[in-house]
Amino acid sequence: MSKPEYVYFQGDYVPFDEAKVSVMTHALNYGTGCFEGIRAYWNEAHQELYLLKMAEHFERLLQSARILHMPLQISVEELCTIALGLIRRNGFKQDVYLRPLVYLADELLGARLHNLKADLTMFATPMSGEPAAHGIKATVSSWRRIDDNAMPARAKITGTYVNSSLAKTEASHNGFDDAIFLNTDGHVSEASGMNLFLVRKGQLITPGVQQNILEGVTRQAVMRIAKEALDLETLERPVDRTELYVCDEMFLCGTGAQILPVASIDHRPVGGTGGVGPVTRHVMDHYARAVRGEHPRFADWVTPAYGSTHN
Ligand SMILES: Cc1ncc(COP(=O)(O)O)c(C=O)c1O
Repeated sequence: MSKPEYVYFQGDYVPFDEAKVSVMTHALNYGTGCFEGIRAYWNEAHQELYLLKMAEHFERLLQSARILHMPLQISVEELCTIALGLIRRNGFKQDVYLRPLVYLADELLGARLHNLKADLTMFATPMSGEPAAHGIKATVSSWRRIDDNAMPARAKITGTYVNSSLAKTEASHNGFDDAIFLNTDGHVSEASGMNLFLVRKGQLITPGVQQNILEGVTRQAVMRIAKEALDLETLERPVDRTELYVCDEMFLCGTGAQILPVASIDHRPVGGTGGVGPVTRHVMDHYARAVRGEHPRFADWVTPAYGSTHN
């Protein structure tokens, strides 16, 4: 992953090497931060870089910060302005991934959230947004998804990602590409860094928001594509583990992974053959057009980074 020229740090755009935190930083020691992942897609024909669902991501960032007692004196609009400024300053003309992070910056010991200073940083780095070429091999993890009453999955908290990392590495060591979590009650939650959809008997199904999922921005986008472009309502309901084994189609979705078909689950080919099913294919096609500002119906999903300032 290449280093960007400029990052946003302590209220200013600074050269990458000048953005440094202390070993005593609270967030580094206790995982007390929250963050977002936002993609921007380069459109060569438009000579434009489109930020995807930027406001929705910053709304979720502020929501995560509220859960963590980190009230930020900053609005979604101001966060968007900082992000656009960062993209422009780096002059990216390729697909990029933007990482805003709010973290407890005090240099002191003691696990708590109150009476500490939250700071904001952002960096962006090139990351190709090509659609997935094939489906992945997934497995149900032996690790359970964190519970809302222990570590809220609804907030995108830095420390939470130890849960994802344990599952991802276990899956990788066992020869799989990714892991699917069950809740403590045994129902399907989500993948290590993606939400999950399945198709059964023509119905599109996804675990509801009370299943300890991150309330994904891409998940909402998939539901809109299904409803408005495919005339398909999404059923949000608890999903059993063995429904994964008998479904017709399964895909994962997230900002980083985009729309990712699942070819097999615990050595069982999805839908019997492991091929990419028609609903998944259609969702992928609509999504790929929308993210590059080429889908009139979903034109409001993207914000041009350069707009009138571009030449
Ligand atoms: C645990 C988890 N679930 C779901 C998602 C998908 O969320 P989004 O579509 O907002 O990127 C992510 C990605 O950020 C994630 O880390």
